[in-house]
Amino acid sequence: MMNCAVILLLTSSCFTWSSAIYTSNRAASNKLKYLLEPPVYPEVVGRRGENVTLPCILKTKPSHYKVKWTKLQPEHEHVGQENIIMISNSHAFKQYGHLGPRAALRRAHAMDASLKLSQLELLDGGSYRCELVNGIEDESVVVSLRIEGVVFPYQSKHGRYKLTFQEAKDVCVEQDGVLASYSQLYRAWTEGLDWCNAGWLDDGTVHYPIITARPACGGETLPGIRSYGPKDKKVDQFDAFCFTSQTSGSVSYISGSFSFEQAERACKHQGAELALVGQLYAAWRFQKYDQCDGGWLRDGSVRFPISNPRERCGGIPEAGVRSFGFPNRMKHLYGAYCYR
Ligand SMILES: *[C@@H]1O[C@H](CO)[C@@H](O)[C@H](O)[C@H]1NC(C)=O
Repeated sequence: MMNCAVILLLTSSCFTWSSAIYTSNRAASNKLKYLLEPPVYPEVVGRRGENVTLPCILKTKPSHYKVKWTKLQPEHEHVGQENIIMISNSHAFKQYGHLGPRAALRRAHAMDASLKLSQLELLDGGSYRCELVNGIEDESVVVSLRIEGVVFPYQSKHGRYKLTFQEAKDVCVEQDGVLASYSQLYRAWTEGLDWCNAGWLDDGTVHYPIITARPACGGETLPGIRSYGPKDKKVDQFDAFCFTSQTSGSVSYISGSFSFEQAERACKHQGAELALVGQLYAAWRFQKYDQCDGGWLRDGSVRFPISNPRERCGGIPEAGVRSFGFPNRMKHLYGAYCYR
């Protein structure tokens, strides 16, 4: 919260990503009879593929009750629609919706109504409500789940600002990600993402994050996330901000002077495939992958990941994944990044 107040000076959008925390505090500040207030930590964090537990503990047990877990819709989606994950009473346990099959109650002790969610997916982040239903005084608490990951900008091979909203969504999925949310972009900005091209976010707005303010990038004098606001999803064209997380496989580099086709074959030869952009970013973020050589990726772009910035390696003082764009596929100049 302290940080939030400071950052508020730089951007007025602080409330968006902490709204889940406020909701949970608000719910907890109502007098609860049956449920304990959520633990002091306001959010649970997990990476793709991991299992997490969303805490919900009873203070008092009414004689008859059900526990209902729901996922709350982000504000920009259909309000009023309830995504039930599971309902349970002393006899029965029923799962609902696409989260149901991965959900279970922990039941670590008699008062435990915590939700276990397994095999986390990129879109699982958000606010979850644990509701005690006894027909008289229903009560609920809200816990938020954040998927730990990395945001990466993506530009079409046809150039800058060539993607409609739907196309932006599609390219992110093709690169093993999803279109990023505002709160994911916000967090990436606090972690150092500075990008001078505007991109779509999952709510249909267009933004770009600036840390070092400069005339060529909006001309404003303070760091912050620049906003173009909501744009026409069918007509307007921008780049995309994609979000991805940990992968189950790993990325490796084959050195050589390959054309795109030769790079494809070099990976196949090792029982692998050319890596996707999201997979390279995930390796950079979670394995501190560092390789000072441009290599082909499956989309035809050439990139390299730098975790220990050094003079002779791109010459930029910050860590990051560098791009050579989409060179001619016949050029025999690069190695290959493979994913297995
Ligand atoms: C995650 O949960 C699933 C299903 O409950 C289980 O099979 C798996 O072993 C768990 N993984 C870890 C790392 O605990």
